[in-house]
Amino acid sequence: MLGKLNHVAIAVPDLAKASALYRDTLGAHVSAPQRLPEHGVTVVFVELDNTKVELLEPLGAESPIAGFLAKNPDGGMHHICYEVADIAAARDALKANGARVLGDGEPKIGAHGNPVLFLHPKDFAGTLVELEQV
Ligand code: CO
Repeated sequence: MLGKLNHVAIAVPDLAKASALYRDTLGAHVSAPQRLPEHGVTVVFVELDNTKVELLEPLGAESPIAGFLAKNPDGGMHHICYEVADIAAARDALKANGARVLGDGEPKIGAHGNPVLFLHPKDFAGTLVELEQV
């Protein structure tokens, strides 16, 4: 079911500061910030040869990462994203195995314009898993 690792996401309290850290201190290419109101985050992507790191900052009062940052005020690893060829088929197979899909279970369009879903961390070794159809 799983394809490539698409990205690892790190929640941060200050996106400009974290972008400067990756760009200036670590010497990586960092994309322009992208606001995703439907997901309650602003994101940038650190583009590496083999994958990406997504830096996430809360957007709006209802941001799903606000609670995470309250517990991890310096930021921290938030989720890992794997590519799948058919997100509806992957969701149906996972649900049939008892896994919980977050939200209403319907894919939303993510930062790359592709459908994404999130899986409950309690069902995946304590890790929030994002699936992206690529
Ligand atoms: Co992500």
